[in-house]
Amino acid sequence: MLWKDKYELGVAVIDAQHKELFKRVESFLHVLRAKDSWEEKIPALNETLEFMKRYVVEHFRDEEDYQQSINYPGYKAHKQIHDDMVNYVLEVSQQYEQANNSEHLMQQFGGRLLAWLINHVAAEDQLIADYANKKGMSGNGR
Ligand SMILES: [Fe+2]
Repeated sequence: MLWKDKYELGVAVIDAQHKELFKRVESFLHVLRAKDSWEEKIPALNETLEFMKRYVVEHFRDEEDYQQSINYPGYKAHKQIHDDMVNYVLEVSQQYEQANNSEHLMQQFGGRLLAWLINHVAAEDQLIADYANKKGMSGNGR
């Protein structure tokens, strides 16, 4: 499991969503790296891709709502990062359909997705917790 407890923001809903994202991205990579033929992997990959498209949007919305509820000053910039990520996922998903389930595209996507998730949750999202803690609002007291 690539999730680390230190990634927790101390906000139950958001932490649960982050864990779920890590779990899904890991199983996505697991399928990508399996020895099965590409044809065999396609259904599981399509399922995850559809899940990600829905879940990422939901999660970002919840996280942005939380940021606004604590008047997080980095809200606008953070929302822009989220929007860019959603666009990237949608773009890849579209290219993937047009390229007939291209393996190369998905392998590239899997790697980027994981790198993005870790970087974002470990760095950008932690700034939200730092701010909340500083203000004495929620957070996990670190
Ligand atoms: Fe975020």
